Amino acid sequence: MILSESHKKFQEKVRDFAQNEVAPLSRELDKEAKFSWELFHRMGELGLLGIPIPKKYGGAGLDTLSYAIAVEEVGRVCGSNGIVLAAHTSLACYPIFLAGSEEQKKKWLVPLARGEKAGAFGLTEPDAGSDAAATKTTAKLVDDKYVINGTKRFITSGYIGEIVPFVATEDPSKRHHGISAFVVEKGTPGFSPGKDEDKLGLRGSYTSELIFEDCVIPKENRLGASGEGFKIFMQTLDGGRISIGALALGIAQGAFDASLKYVREHESLKRSQFIQGLLADMGTYIEAARGLIYDAAVLKDRGLPLTRKAAMAKLYASEIGMWVCSKAVELHGEAGLTNRYPVERFLRDEKLMEIGEGTSEIQRIVIAREILGR
Ligand code: CAA
Repeated sequence: MILSESHKKFQEKVRDFAQNEVAPLSRELDKEAKFSWELFHRMGELGLLGIPIPKKYGGAGLDTLSYAIAVEEVGRVCGSNGIVLAAHTSLACYPIFLAGSEEQKKKWLVPLARGEKAGAFGLTEPDAGSDAAATKTTAKLVDDKYVINGTKRFITSGYIGEIVPFVATEDPSKRHHGISAFVVEKGTPGFSPGKDEDKLGLRGSYTSELIFEDCVIPKENRLGASGEGFKIFMQTLDGGRISIGALALGIAQGAFDASLKYVREHESLKRSQFIQGLLADMGTYIEAARGLIYDAAVLKDRGLPLTRKAAMAKLYASEIGMWVCSKAVELHGEAGLTNRYPVERFLRDEKLMEIGEGTSEIQRIVIAREILGR
C-alpha cells in the first residue's frame, strides 16, 4: 500500500523519535533488563500512547494505520518499547474505549491515552492461556461490590500497570458466557503484581503476575454487561493482533536494516549471489507482511470484520519475522551471536510475536474457522 502524505509525515515523526531517542538506549535496556519510564513519558508527550483514541478521550485522534506505523517504527529499533506501546494502546486503552461508559472513559481512558498512567491487560492465567475461556479468576458480587480472587500470568507491563482491564468469571458453569470484564486500579487493597519474569527477549519491558486476594472493587468497575467479558476481550485481541503483527514487522525490518549495513561493509558478501538472494527474500517477505498489516488496519478503521485478516497479519508477520531474524544472525556469521550487532537481540525479541496475543496455532484455528465456518 502506498502511504498518503499525512501518513508519511507521521511515519517520519515517529522514526525521528525512534532513531534518535529510543535506539541509543535499546541495547542497554535489554542488557540491564530495565524498563524506561523516561521513554514511556516521552511517548506520552509525543501523543503516541493513544494514537487511535479520539481526542475527546485524550488520544491523538488518528487511525489504526498510523498506530501500526508507529509500533513498526519503534519496534524497528527496540522490541521492548514496541511491546510497551502496543500493550498500552491495544490492550489497556481499547477495551475501555470499546465497552466503557462515558464516565469510565473519562476516568480511565483519558489518563491512559494521554500517557499519564500506564496500562496492562489481565487475561492469561496459569491454566487459561490459549484456552482463554478457561479463566479461573472469580468475581463474586457481594453488596454491590465485586470480590476478586485469582492470579493472572505473563502480563505485559503488569508490574507497572496503573489501570488494568481484566476478566474474571462470575459463573464458571457458563464457561465463556460467565466471564465479565472489569478494571482494577493499582493501589487497590488485595491487588498486587507478582515478580517480574527474567525473559529471553523484550527484556526492557515488564512481564509479571497480577495477584487478586479478596480484592474488592466497586460494581461500577465492570466494563460492559455481566457475561460480556469474553467477547469484549476477543474483539480487543483482534485489534491487538494487528499491533503484534506490526511489531513483528518492525523487528524484522530492524534485522533487515542491520543485515544490509553489514553486507554493504563486507565486499565479499555483497558480491555473493547467495547473500543477494537471501536479502531479496527477506525484503520480499517483509513487504508482503506490511501489506497484510496495513490492510487489516484499514479494515479496522472502516469498521469492517477483521478477525481473519488480523490473525493472518499476525501469523504471517511473526513467522516470516522469525525467519528474517534468524537469517540476519546467520548472515553476520559468528559475530551475529554477539551483542556487538543488534541482530541477536532482534531474534530474541521476535520470538514473543509467535506466542503473545495468541500463538501461531491459535491464529491458524481462528483463520480456519473464519474460512470454513464454525
Ligand atoms: N470477536 C467477537 N466475538 C468473538 C470473537 C471475536 N474475534 N471470537 C470469538 N467470539 C465469540 C464467539 O462468537 C462466541 O460467542 P457465542 O458463544 O455467543 O456464540 C464466543 O466468543 C466463544 O467463541 P469460541 O467458541 O470461538 O471460543 P473458544 O473457547 O473456542 O476460543 C479462541 C476461541 C480463539 C481459541 C480463544 O480462546 C483465543 O483467542 N485464545 C487465545 C487467547 C490469547 O490470544 N491470549 C493472549 C493473551 S494477551 C497477550 O498475550 C498479551 C501480551 O502480553 C503480549
